[in-house]
Amino acid sequence: MTGRVEGKVALVTGAGSIGPGWGNGKASSVLFAREGAKVACLDINLGAADETRALIESEGGEAIALQCDVADRAQVEAAVASASERFGALDILHHNVGIAVVGGPVELEEDEWDRVTDINLKSAYLVTRAALPVLEQGGGGAIVFTSSIAGIRHTGVDYISYSTTKGALIPFSRSVALQYARRGIRSNCVLPGLMDTPMIYAGLQDAYADGDKAEMARLRGEQCPMGRMGDAWDVARAVLFLASDDARYVTATELVVDGGITAKFT
Ligand SMILES: NC(=O)c1ccc[n+]([C@@H]2O[C@H](COP(=O)([O-])OP(=O)(O)OC[C@H]3O[C@@H](n4cnc5c(N)ncnc54)[C@H](O)[C@@H]3O)[C@@H](O)[C@H]2O)c1
Repeated sequence: MTGRVEGKVALVTGAGSIGPGWGNGKASSVLFAREGAKVACLDINLGAADETRALIESEGGEAIALQCDVADRAQVEAAVASASERFGALDILHHNVGIAVVGGPVELEEDEWDRVTDINLKSAYLVTRAALPVLEQGGGGAIVFTSSIAGIRHTGVDYISYSTTKGALIPFSRSVALQYARRGIRSNCVLPGLMDTPMIYAGLQDAYADGDKAEMARLRGEQCPMGRMGDAWDVARAVLFLASDDARYVTATELVVDGGITAKFT
């Protein structure tokens, strides 16, 4: 299938990857472009965003890279304005940025709590606040937030700031969806399960296997009903569906992409 977002303009936050390989935002950006969208690749790490831009252009797509800290209001407003000015519109907002810091209320320092809540949750407010008027001006659009099954289940890792902020994205998205339902704007969340992306190797290995990354990957795969983790493309395909007109009557809901593990934890 091709052209599922033909002619649309998409803005993806966290469009790079924290390490080598495919992060969720990077895969979603490339998939949007393969399906016909122009993509504004936004990341705090300009090099990472630019790598995604180059990948898209190497396949004949159109993209720009924008440096932006999603926790900074002025930077977010400037990035949304740049994207819509460059491409003349904005139709899809995919707010994918998220960081995970391990620790419960006692272990986590206050500044870490603030950092995670700012990057994972306040950012949703800032990005949505900046994008909604532009989406509405263009006649509507779709918003897809990257939540996590950690927001609805305990995955075995104690990372209270992560699970709390990922959970909070769900009512945030539903509220936007209901307020804007008659204005042509849909809002949904994708909830990835245990995925094999660069993010997990950047901070979760200690919580699983005393820093042993290969052992962490094995343990995570073993937990999943299919015997393996999912990957960034599994998430990207779900994001594409929610962002496209295939999901035109889908709003205020959550799409779990977890190979069945949430049912196991029920
Ligand atoms: N990997 C999993 O198992 C899993 C599971 C559920 C949800 N998720 C979610 O998927 C999303 C993406 O994960 P990923 O594995 O692709 O991550 P990743 O860390 O590889 O990529 C995220 C990108 O976000 C950027 N970023 C970080 N802080 C930023 C900020 N303040 N402003 C702008 N950009 C910033 C990073 O530079 C990086 O390029 C996250 O929200 C994560 O919580 C991942």
